[in-house]
Amino acid sequence: MNKAKTVLDMGRMKGQGEKIAVLTAYDYPLARLLDLAGIDMVLVGDSVGPVVAGYDNTLPVTMDEMVYHTRAVVRGCAQALVVADLPFLSYQVDLAEARRNAGRLIKEGGAQAVKLEGGENVAATIRAIVAMDVPVVGHIGLTPQSIHRMGGYKVQGKQETQARQLLADARAVEAAGAFAIVLEGIPAALAAEITAALTIPTIGIGAGVHCDGQVLVLHDILGLCEKYSPKFVKRYADAAALISGAAADYIREVKAGTFPGEEHSF
Ligand code: KIV
Repeated sequence: MNKAKTVLDMGRMKGQGEKIAVLTAYDYPLARLLDLAGIDMVLVGDSVGPVVAGYDNTLPVTMDEMVYHTRAVVRGCAQALVVADLPFLSYQVDLAEARRNAGRLIKEGGAQAVKLEGGENVAATIRAIVAMDVPVVGHIGLTPQSIHRMGGYKVQGKQETQARQLLADARAVEAAGAFAIVLEGIPAALAAEITAALTIPTIGIGAGVHCDGQVLVLHDILGLCEKYSPKFVKRYADAAALISGAAADYIREVKAGTFPGEEHSF
């Protein structure tokens, strides 16, 4: 078994030009498979809302739900770094609440770090959480918790003023003490500029190839999210067909009375 990865390894990987591979997970069996495959970081994303619970977006996800899923993922990871998302309304109201909720993901969930969305507007929050020795990943660009402000899931930073603001946001997140930052849904050239400007690693999703690492939602790469497939997703498997096929075979055999067989009976 490989030695468990830490936040320091992520910085080292940027320094050595080694790309950081990140996927989301929300449960024990899939987290375990990712860990055994050698993933560097597992993100317990608040994408659990749309992906697993069937919500329209990430906004309804609660702290208790995040703690539950984080615990399951942590039990499946022996070598990967586990980062858990702070869901909407768990860090925006005041710093004390943000610190308590970040602490819950570490103490009750067992995560090694937390992630939160925003740039200059959350710098004080990042600083407050880092000050209690909880490592933080920032997240700027297309931030799903801001869906109502953005008017949908739209690429951010296409106009020059927006792009300059995102660079300022990235610098603010780094200055506040985050050890890495997710760049979501921004032009590849802007992501390259931000990546060159920062000393902490950038983890891209829909942000081109020049980031220090990449993150995707596991169910997207497995082909399990049929209703929504953004341009930046690459499908590496057709798990929907596999699962539907297995279920159909089972149903057929139960109806035909050919399952269970002698070998499955006592
Ligand atoms: O919630 C999530 O899964 C995320 C990633 C897509 C970056 O924030």
